[in-house]
Amino acid sequence: MMLKRTRYCGDLRGDDVGETVILNGWVHSYRDHGGVIFIDLRDIKGIVQCVFNPEYNQEVHKEARRLRSEWVIAVKGKVARRPEGTENPKMKTGEVEVIVDEMEILNSSEPLPFNLDEYVETDEMVRLRYRYLDMRREEVKKRFILRSEAARIIRNYFHSRGFVEVETPFLTKSTPEGARDYLVPSRVNPGRFYALPQSPQLFKQILMVAGMDKYFQIVKCFRDEDLRADRQPEFTQIDVEMSFVDEEDIFEVIEGMLKLLFEEILDVEVNVPFLRMPYSEAMMKYGSDKPDLRFGLEIQDITSAVKGCGFKVFEEAASQGVVRGIIVENWSPSRSELDGLVDLAVEFGASGLVWFRHAGQEIKSPAVKFMTKESLNKICKLTNFREGNVLLVVAGNEAKTAEVLGKLRLHLGKKLNLIKENEYKFLWVTDFPFLEYDEEEKRFVAVHHPFTSPREDDLPLLETEPAKVRARAYDVVLNGMEIGGGSIRIHRRDVQEKVFRVLGIEEEEARAKFGFLLDALQYGAPPHGGIALGLDRLVMILTGARSIRDVIAFPKTQRAQCFLTGAPSTVDERQLKELRIRVIE
Ligand code: AMO
Repeated sequence: MMLKRTRYCGDLRGDDVGETVILNGWVHSYRDHGGVIFIDLRDIKGIVQCVFNPEYNQEVHKEARRLRSEWVIAVKGKVARRPEGTENPKMKTGEVEVIVDEMEILNSSEPLPFNLDEYVETDEMVRLRYRYLDMRREEVKKRFILRSEAARIIRNYFHSRGFVEVETPFLTKSTPEGARDYLVPSRVNPGRFYALPQSPQLFKQILMVAGMDKYFQIVKCFRDEDLRADRQPEFTQIDVEMSFVDEEDIFEVIEGMLKLLFEEILDVEVNVPFLRMPYSEAMMKYGSDKPDLRFGLEIQDITSAVKGCGFKVFEEAASQGVVRGIIVENWSPSRSELDGLVDLAVEFGASGLVWFRHAGQEIKSPAVKFMTKESLNKICKLTNFREGNVLLVVAGNEAKTAEVLGKLRLHLGKKLNLIKENEYKFLWVTDFPFLEYDEEEKRFVAVHHPFTSPREDDLPLLETEPAKVRARAYDVVLNGMEIGGGSIRIHRRDVQEKVFRVLGIEEEEARAKFGFLLDALQYGAPPHGGIALGLDRLVMILTGARSIRDVIAFPKTQRAQCFLTGAPSTVDERQLKELRIRVIE
């Protein structure tokens, strides 16, 4: 019989002195000090020092000499106060040690492929291949315990507010969320495929038609898209839908959830309601639909000030596009730093960047000699460009200029250390455009998704000026990361059909793909709306992780591979035959 645990290693404290305990765990480290053997024993709660003294128990001491790193053992012994001067204030259990008088070796271990103490030095691919070893590290394990805690808080929150958790299928039909589908062939329906859901969007809407009223689900979603530091092919959403609501109701529920989560997990106070900002303002001031509000450096428009300024580049842009800039206060960069920013702007897609320095009562810039005094004065007045400041200007078409300055702003925020740690700036970005023109497909596509409701007052523009229609869509943004997005939905069949038409989806195609939704909408669909938050991204922020892979237990690499299992892999010829699939080499 195995010696069964009575206490956790990491839980033992001074109060436990004198208690006889049984611990189960891994040999974290092993030191032989002239006969007395010290072992740091590790379990999920932490580490405690165990002592094997030959004078105390010779037989157990002899057995302990066989131990190696990461062997699995059970020990029985008495908790003792460490001798004076040998306490370790860095360890939570540093006041005590366990004097072992019984031990059972439960398993041995091969030497590990990497040292558990050298987290940073170990190549990520090796860590992922041996994720079970990587997870034995305190900092890695902690992230997953926190993730589990976050999910518990979220679940309790929604239950306490009367939400019903309903599971939706994984083997389903394609839901367009802008990525490619993962397809699963059906053996019993040769030539037919399921799609793994990019989100449970249509099911949650149908649950509203079903009268479920308030739904939530913590659910896996699958998207075949290019991976980035905050994207995985399978990820988890906190998916929400509510009936008889408008934007404010959704905001209130989500603000409450995020407030609770950040207060319970990080003990930071979150002020509600969050700031709200229309998409157009976010793009103008921050050059991004997910602005990081932890620092200023707002973008300013100087188009009106440079009309007729004498400098061709600005004049041309002012007549066909925009001229915008960022002021950096109290900054005196070197010439090469400024040249570096020009190169960076070009790398970001600008045709150039013009800098102005206000130093020694004088404005210096490669463009100054071409510009009238008046226009320089106008710029100073408009932007509050003063002594000690640098102004960085980009001219060109509006979208590109916004994007370049947005990226430049983020670059400067980091470079100049303007981003405060442990600050959490939430905001709602609202009034997104309903449609955007897809150059590749040569047609309008939905910015959020085709089930999002256009704003009622913009409905007449749908067929005349589609680009001007605003959507009842919103994103929740935290520290420059989109952590969630949602919308008020279309709940009338005729409007949904009209939107499909504007999107260039023919009636037949609409029927084939979304007929079940259109049918449902005609049987008394209530007004409804919802949102989905990325749980992985939230946990990234809560744990300060740099990559989404750090908060997913078994993540995929850039090439969508799992290093632990080797997926995706080839399959037997027999399996392919059953599925009537032939692989083209
Ligand atoms: P959306 O596509 O905006 O909306 O997704 C919602 C949130 O999910 C997270 N997310 C991701 N996280 C990790 N890896 C990915 N590949 C990934 N893609 C998205 C983001 C994002 O904000 N059905 C709608 C929601 C709705 O309208 O209710 C939807 O899926 O944090």
